[in-house]
Parts: sequence; structure tokens; C-alpha cells
Amino acid sequence: MKYLVTIIALLISFNLPAQQRSVNYDEEEVPNYTLPDVLVSENGRRIKNAKRWEKIRRPELLELFGQEVYGEIPVEIEIADVIVHEEAGEAYDGLAVRRQVELVFVKDDLELSVELLMYLPKDSGEVPLFVGYNFNGNHTVSDDPDIRLTESWVRDNPSLGIVHNQVTEQSRGVSSDRCPIEKIIEAGYGIATIYCGDVDPDRDNFQDGIHPFSYQLGQFRPGYGEWGTISAWAWGLTKAMDYLSTDADVDSSKVIVFGHSRLGKAALWAAALDQRFAMCISNNSGCMGAALSRRQFGETVGSITKAFPHWFCENLNKYASREENLPVDQHMLLALVAPRPLYVTSATEDLWADPKGEFLSAVEAGKVYQLYGLEGLPVREMPGPDSPVSGTIAYHIRTGEHNITTYDWEQFVDFANTQLTTEK
Ligand code: GCU
Repeated sequence: MKYLVTIIALLISFNLPAQQRSVNYDEEEVPNYTLPDVLVSENGRRIKNAKRWEKIRRPELLELFGQEVYGEIPVEIEIADVIVHEEAGEAYDGLAVRRQVELVFVKDDLELSVELLMYLPKDSGEVPLFVGYNFNGNHTVSDDPDIRLTESWVRDNPSLGIVHNQVTEQSRGVSSDRCPIEKIIEAGYGIATIYCGDVDPDRDNFQDGIHPFSYQLGQFRPGYGEWGTISAWAWGLTKAMDYLSTDADVDSSKVIVFGHSRLGKAALWAAALDQRFAMCISNNSGCMGAALSRRQFGETVGSITKAFPHWFCENLNKYASREENLPVDQHMLLALVAPRPLYVTSATEDLWADPKGEFLSAVEAGKVYQLYGLEGLPVREMPGPDSPVSGTIAYHIRTGEHNITTYDWEQFVDFANTQLTTEK
């Protein structure tokens, strides 16, 4: 049996891109590790209740993740203008209305536009709503011909019709299988999405997106403990929340922040920073998302800071291959969502994201939920595929590859139904 597992792991690793080979996929090779205690403050005092958590430990951990991992957001930038391109376009055969809103940010001669695409159940009054980023432009999430095309930089992908870093009609709807909008609307929820590159293009270049808004004269990149791209994306989500809390059709006490993969890392960090988000969904967020760094299974701090240095603050490089020196681990990020409902997912073929590390991290975060008299995850053993478990933290491992699917969304909606009661 043991050999079979090793052979399967080897076969999987041969199919992976070079960056992901010579990576540990063997449970036996996971080093012994001790997690930093989420309930012991930096001066060694045990945190015994929710009040002390909120007053001492929560702010400490936010600062550590800010300084050492994602980077602090160094400026306050408010929405300068809201341009409503479309207020209530008819969508999904009259089931929904489509709203397209541009949030404009201005500083000196800098200007940035972030466009929010929303679908809301028609004539439903204030609705709970999911908000999260997409990877390649709002028009990719649905084949709805009326979604505006982004003019922002998008990574070239000729097979999707993305050329010279600009999208074309060809990519309309290409990611529609990642977000079953009609089902979400039918369940009584709204959904809002933003192209992540509107806020910060996903490239190792700090000259575009929101970063330059924080620079002093002569500064060309963030300081060592200042925002990388994930922090910039988290900032963008908090600005979306600023807007959503003014939208009369949204119940701003029930806004659920979601994200897949790198965008799941951003969703978690946004939920940690901004307690207005009522619930958080981390889908296959992996390394520096939900997964424990000290396990060293799949992607590690060493590999992620090499491949995607711009996602983090420069200080994180100190911990490449020295995960044991990190003052935090990712269960602490999950704990920063407490006491709000949190859904963590993995996928059976997504070993790079370390499913077990994601699960164990969610188990460990439960300690903080207990301070509030809530049960985090109701189990200590990882459930089998496609068998969701939930307390105030929910978890499932879906059969299949790294992705966000209709199956995942069905579980998110069910969980939201049970966690965010409809009466106000
Ligand atoms: C890469 C990266 C992951 C990330 C993923 C994604 O695989 O190594 O950390 O989550 O891309 O965003 O799809």
C-alpha cells in the first residue's frame, strides 16, 4: 500500500510543470513540526477568552501577517467617484438584473478604475451577496453579451483571444463553468465580481495598479513590510465592500467574500483585515492561503516566493526554506476570520495546494472559534472525498483537480443558508 501511494505520487509529479517537481508529495517525508500557538500572545501570555483575543492576539497577528507575509497597506485611499454604467440590465431571462459599476480612485495625476459586475435576483430587495475576483476579466464569468470588456492589462493567452495583453470577444464566457450564476441567483443571492488586474495586474511590476498610489517621491516599489499583490487585492475587496455597503439592493451585513487559488489567498487576507465581511470562502487556496507552511508538502514558502515574489512583501523571503522561523502559520490567518463562518476546500488532485495541510489548518483555527462558544470543524480526521463537514468552519475535499466548480458552489450556498439566517 505504502509503495502504491509513493508510485501514484511519483506519477502525479511527472505530470507537473518543472517548478512543481522535486517537491515533497510523500506524507512520510513531512518533517516534524510544531505550530506557533494561536492562543499564546507574543509575550507568552495565554489568551483565554474572546475579549483578550480581540484586544491582544488578533491585532498582534494582523500586524505579523502584515509585516512578514502579505505586507501592510501603507495608505488610506477612498473611492473618489462611482460611475454607474448600467443600473439594472435584464439578465438570465428576467431572473436577474445586471449592474456594472466603476469605482474610480484618484491621487495627484494617478487614476485607477475598478469595475464591479453584479447580478442580483430581480425585485428581491436587499439580498445577501457573494463577492470575489476573477482571473481574466468580468466578461469571462458569463457568456452574457452585455458585460463590458476590461481595458486593463491581462496576461496574454491567445487561445482565449487575449492578445497584446488586451481581452477580445473570444474570451467571453470562458470561465462560466467556474461560477453558476443562475443557481446562485435562484438561491436568493447576488454575486459581484471584479477582474483582479483592475486593482493590480498579476505581474512582477510595482509600477501599475494601486501600488504607485502609496509611493513617496522617488519611490518605485513598496518597502520591505509593505503590500505585495495579495495585499493590494485584499485592499480592493475592502473597497468593493465600501461600495456594496452603499448599494440599497445589497444586505451589507451578509456579504460573503470568496476566492479561488491565489484569489482565495486574497479573500482570506481581506476577511482577516475587514470584519464587515460576514463569511469567507477559501477555495483551493493552498500555500500562503489555508495550507500550513510548516508541513512542507506541495508548494512551500521557498517555491512560492521564487515563482511569485510580487504576491508578498519582501520580508517573506527570509522564511524561504526556513518555515520554522515564521512567527505565524496559516491556521492563524484562518483564525482571524473568527467568529464568522469560514469555508475551506481542497481537491483530491490538487496536491500542490496540500489538501491535508488545508484541513489541519482549519482544525487548528477552531481553537479561536471555541473562545466564542462556537465549534469550528466538528471532526479531527479528514473526511473522504465529496463529504462536506461543517461547524462554523466548513471543509470539503472535492474529487478532481485544482478548480472551483458547481459542486463547490452548491456547498457554499448550503453553508451560507445555514449560517447567515435570513431574518434581520
Ligand atoms: C500557482 C501557485 C499557487 C496558486 C495557483 C493559482 O499554482 O503556485 O500558489 O494558488 O497558481 O492561483 O492558480
